[in-house]
Amino acid sequence: MPRTYLVTGALSGIGAATTALLRRQGHTVLAADLEGGDIAADLSAPEGRAALVARARELSGGRLDAVVACAGVAHFDPVTVRINHFGAVATLEGLRPLLAAGSDPRALVVGSVDAVHPTDPAIVAAADADDETEAVAAARAAVDRGEGHLVYSSSKAAVSRWVRRAAPGDAWAGAGIALNAVAPGVVLTPLTKPLLDDPATLALVERAVPMPLHGHSRPEQLAPLVAWLTSPENALVTGQVVFADGGADAVLRGDRVW
Ligand SMILES: NC(=O)c1ccc[n+]([C@@H]2O[C@H](COP(=O)([O-])OP(=O)(O)OC[C@H]3O[C@@H](n4cnc5c(N)ncnc54)[C@H](O)[C@@H]3O)[C@@H](O)[C@H]2O)c1
Repeated sequence: MPRTYLVTGALSGIGAATTALLRRQGHTVLAADLEGGDIAADLSAPEGRAALVARARELSGGRLDAVVACAGVAHFDPVTVRINHFGAVATLEGLRPLLAAGSDPRALVVGSVDAVHPTDPAIVAAADADDETEAVAAARAAVDRGEGHLVYSSSKAAVSRWVRRAAPGDAWAGAGIALNAVAPGVVLTPLTKPLLDDPATLALVERAVPMPLHGHSRPEQLAPLVAWLTSPENALVTGQVVFADGGADAVLRGDRVW
C-alpha cells in the first residue's frame, strides 16, 4: 500500500537516500530541508519548526503515515544541539497528531553511534528537561573550554534518551505509533567528507568509530533499515536505538550493555 512519508534533511546524504528508496517503493515523500524540496524550514529555530508542521499539514491534508527526522549537523557549536535534539523532537512531536491520523504510523530519528562517546552531562540534562536555553548555554560553555566535540555526542545521546522515554508512553505506543532511532557509524556524506578528506582527522575518526564489518558505510545502506522500521511490517520494534554501525557499538561498549 502506498504511504505518505515526511523526511527532514531529505536533500542530502542519508535523508536523500531514504527519500529515493521510499519513492522507488511507490510511496509519496514530502521532502523537507533547509532550502528547496517540498518544505523549506530551518529546524534550528522555533519559527522554522512551526513552519514545517503547518506546511506538512497543508500538503498532507492532515495525515502522515511515517516521519523520518534525519536533518542534522556536526558543528562544534550550540546550533548542533538546537537542530539534532530540539529540532528533531519538535519535528516528531509537532507531526505526531498527523501520524495519529495516518495508517500503521511510524516515526524515526537518525541518531548516531557517537551517542556512546563521552558527553557533556549539562547539555544532556538540559535536553532531558526540555530546556533549550540551558542546553545552548551548556553547549556554548563546552565550546568555550575547548570541548566543542561534546556537543554532537550530547545531542545524539539526548535524542536517543528522548526516544526511550517517549516511545512506550500513551502519546506514541498508546496511539499505535512505533518510535525508534537508528544509530549509524561513519557514513560517506557531505557531513563527514571534510573529516575523512583530512588524514589527521581520518585517523581520529577511525579510532573513535571502528567499523569491523565493511568499514565506512554509504547512505544507501542505511535507507532499507529506515524504510523497514517505518513500514507497517514493523509491528513490534519501538523505543529502540538500532545501531547500524558495522560493529562500532559492539567494539566500543562490548558486553557492558547487558
Ligand atoms: N554521516 C555520518 O557519518 C553520520 C553518522 C551518524 C549519524 N548521522 C546523522 O545522520 C543525519 C543525516 O546526516 P548526513 O550524514 O546525511 O548529512 P548531510 O549533511 O548529507 O545531510 C544533512 C541534511 O540536514 C539538513 N539540515 C542541516 N541543518 C538544517 C536545519 N537547520 N534545518 C533543516 N535541515 C537542516 C541539510 O540541509 C542536509 O540536507 C544527521 O542527523 C547526522 O547527525 C550521520
